[in-house]
Amino acid sequence: MSNEIYEKLEICRKSILQKTNFKPEVAVILGSGLGEYASKIKIEQIIPYTEIEGFPVSTVVGHKGQFVFGYVKEVPVVIMQGRVHYYEGYPVTDVVLPVRLMGMLGAKKLILTNASGGINTGFHPGDLMLITDQIMSGIPNPLIGANVEELGTRFPDMSEAYSERMQQIIKKEAQKLGIPLKEGVYLQLTGPSYETPAEIRMYRTCGADAVGMSTACETIAARHMGIEVCGISCITNLAAGMTSQHLNHQEVQQTADRVAEQFQELLTAIITHI
Ligand code: 6GU
Repeated sequence: MSNEIYEKLEICRKSILQKTNFKPEVAVILGSGLGEYASKIKIEQIIPYTEIEGFPVSTVVGHKGQFVFGYVKEVPVVIMQGRVHYYEGYPVTDVVLPVRLMGMLGAKKLILTNASGGINTGFHPGDLMLITDQIMSGIPNPLIGANVEELGTRFPDMSEAYSERMQQIIKKEAQKLGIPLKEGVYLQLTGPSYETPAEIRMYRTCGADAVGMSTACETIAARHMGIEVCGISCITNLAAGMTSQHLNHQEVQQTADRVAEQFQELLTAIITHI
């Protein structure tokens, strides 16, 4: 099992190396509706996921699927425009393959972004939330199976999943830009159905502030490799039962569009200061 996963990663890595020898310092994953940022950087190379042998490709409408290599100011970055989700039916080891691959290409730091539903009653659609910690429920841990020794240790510590150092910098940068930043715990569930109001009440009691269908498993895979991680959630809507509105994916896109400018400004500041 270990070798299978590592072999697949090596095939993907070689497939990329045939197209570019770009060495990123920072890896970024852009969440639903937040993908536009990649077109704003100084692009060196674009590689569609379909051109990478063995790479999982997203089936969700509106999710682009490509790596964008380039520079934000002087910082070499690799940006994922689109990610795959567990609800699409991929094994969780495939879901985290891209994160591992970016680590193998040289990225030491990872910025995760996502669209999520607000659980904290103090949140509003359009808020940006600095992720301070996470809860993962219903999704198998991506490290289950024989440990991939080439990547990391069997029992990785998760007491600082999201880097305290990065969190301090992000809060300072947001303040400098005058961008209000909420903070909280991100909960990853499987989806694809949204939660019921009773589930949301339960998860609020459990300490979750925002809920989505990505990110937490990626953080685990990155921490396993010793990559330093930070995360920003765009609260695109309030979770079920918190308003009279019913949930739909269109609202996610609309809110993400509304805050895109602030989000992009903050992301540039984060990339250039972490
Ligand atoms: Cl309310 N739930 C989940 N699971 N994912 C979301 C969401 C809610 N809003 C945006 N993404």
